[in-house]
Amino acid sequence: MEKEKIEKIKSHYGFTSQDAKNLRGLLPLMQMHREKFIHEMYHYIKDLDDADKYLKNQEIVERHQKALGEWYMDTFAGDYGFAYFSELERVGMAHVKVGLEAHYVNASMHFCKRYLHDVLRSEVQDQQERAYLMGSLDKILDMNLDIFTSSYIDEEKRTIFLSHKLESFLIRTAKRFTYGLNLILLIGLVGLGGMVLWLVGYDLMHVFHGNIEKGLLSTLGSLLMLWVIIELMNTEIEHLQGKKFAIRVFISVALVAMIRKILIATLAHGDVSKQLSLMIGLAILGGVYWLITKADAESDR
Ligand code: HEM
Repeated sequence: MEKEKIEKIKSHYGFTSQDAKNLRGLLPLMQMHREKFIHEMYHYIKDLDDADKYLKNQEIVERHQKALGEWYMDTFAGDYGFAYFSELERVGMAHVKVGLEAHYVNASMHFCKRYLHDVLRSEVQDQQERAYLMGSLDKILDMNLDIFTSSYIDEEKRTIFLSHKLESFLIRTAKRFTYGLNLILLIGLVGLGGMVLWLVGYDLMHVFHGNIEKGLLSTLGSLLMLWVIIELMNTEIEHLQGKKFAIRVFISVALVAMIRKILIATLAHGDVSKQLSLMIGLAILGGVYWLITKADAESDR
């Protein structure tokens, strides 16, 4: 932890060198209550739900009791610099690592406060002095809790940050890729539009070559295709500008292709059954187109 951060925390809690002195002065008294503190604290911890979940075996319990005793003594060591705050951060992270709920840390810290207040109440007779010492005690315990809680917040932020970063990267990449694909589609449609224009010109040539009926009907078919291309391009441009994709345009493409086929089949004076099946296909596509348009209108309402 940086020196500036430590100083900031101390100043926010109004922790002064006098508080450090007060706590240092309490060391001999608190040392006498060390064993009792560990015993009572453990009595309290054992009663917490899920305590066994964290303190799984005797080895861990003994390690924790020893660590708790050291933490207790450090609280009154009078040295509240870099080493002290770094150790608090380590303890905070140890709790996060074992998955201990922050609530238990808060509750057990409250227990520590109550226990130490009781010690002061029974050992320091002078009311004013007691209040003064209690003030310093509360500050150091509250700073402890602050650091312990920060470990949970840091961990939470870290998880959110990582997934958030990854998520936004994936979304950004996917969006760019989709946008790129849409642009390629638009370029393809422009190319297709050019080819249909050429087809219109080609069909018109029949008129100039004297085949007026064929020329007019096939030009009508290719103009319909041109209309569809324009529709598709408009839909694609609107989609690129953020509007919903109009699926009915695809049906209109199939409809136009079918109409063009019917026009050509009529010209060829061919098989009636083939023309009939094209008509049935056209009717079905028309029905689908109508249904989709109706559904679109209802969802827009
Ligand atoms: C104010 C309350 C508490 C303090 C001051 C405290 C203090 C500590 C300390 C100093 C360590 C050792 C950190 C290390 O060196 O890595 C530790 C670890 C641990 N604490 Fe606490 N603790 C508190 C509350 C609790 C509670 C309520 C539980 C469980 C219900 C708990 C469970 C643990 C566990 C499981 C470990 C890891 C033990 C290991 O595997 O070595 N602590 N705690």
